[in-house]
Amino acid sequence: MRIGIASDHGGFLLKEQVKSFLLAEGHTVHDCGTDSENPVDYPPIIQELARMVAQNTVDRGVAFCGSGLGASMVANKVPGVRCALCSEPYSAVLSRQHNNANVLALGGRLIGKDMAAEILRVWLTTEFEGGRHQRRVDQIHALDNERGIRRES
Ligand code: RB5
Repeated sequence: MRIGIASDHGGFLLKEQVKSFLLAEGHTVHDCGTDSENPVDYPPIIQELARMVAQNTVDRGVAFCGSGLGASMVANKVPGVRCALCSEPYSAVLSRQHNNANVLALGGRLIGKDMAAEILRVWLTTEFEGGRHQRRVDQIHALDNERGIRRES
């Protein structure tokens, strides 16, 4: 898969560890930064990643900040993005089966690299179930139309 990753300083170390994991698994990784633990604002960095997902430049995105909260909030502002903040694997499975999540948010100050790898492993291999869940996902994106925002994908 083509996977985009992005973090602020709070998520930087976990991003680097996840990047190694993804490359070892054979994925193509596009890194939107940041490139150190020096403080940076997360919104522009995460926005770049979310737009890449919405425009289908990458297949999936993984967004990091200290808690994962800010990253998920930013990503979910971009039409076409469905970002799930997960701290354990079962939420990651459900985010794929029921919500067709295309961005995963992880908190660099909350979870370790082994937990992140397990979350990633199930998130990247679990399929969307469609059916009644497709209708609900469509209803989520109808909110974009209501606000006059055009989806990019
Ligand atoms: C940065 O200190 C921190 O606020 C950020 O990484 C993130 O957790 C925001 O939601």
